[in-house]
Amino acid sequence: MARLPIRTYPDPVLAAIAEPVGEITPEIAQLIDDMMLTMYESDGVGLAAPQVGQSIRLITLDETGPKERKKPMALLNPVIVSGEGCKESEESCLSLPTFSCKVKRYECVTVKGRNEKGEDVEIKAEGLLAVILQHEMDHLDGKTLVDHASRLKRTMYDTKVKKWRKD
Ligand code: NI
Repeated sequence: MARLPIRTYPDPVLAAIAEPVGEITPEIAQLIDDMMLTMYESDGVGLAAPQVGQSIRLITLDETGPKERKKPMALLNPVIVSGEGCKESEESCLSLPTFSCKVKRYECVTVKGRNEKGEDVEIKAEGLLAVILQHEMDHLDGKTLVDHASRLKRTMYDTKVKKWRKD
């Protein structure tokens, strides 16, 4: 397993619509392992393949976090089949250092996809797990938290990022 470098905004891979994953080849299996490790070592609860430069519909997550590591999960080609309720969550993202903003999310979601063994799975989620799923699935559609933020907040972050790139 290897820890992969995390792409940060405004890397174009983060704004691309990711491609569906076909068969689980040895390369995909390896990528899942690497993403899981990268997620834990970066102190994250979720990671999407575009964040490590792979524009494919694959996410890893673990709502119990990098200390417990009790519920590792990989999902391929996830889709939200239903969403209910509405809540505001304060979120941050490994691809957006120092940034956080409030996002409107479904309170409960049902997500379908395939797991790392290629089996069809359906997940009914609420609370933190529901938020992580929606956040990571946004990445597969080229969406990050800056797309949820106000124009002012986004402009301020753009200015900050430009300055970092110069320094
Ligand atoms: Ni993110």
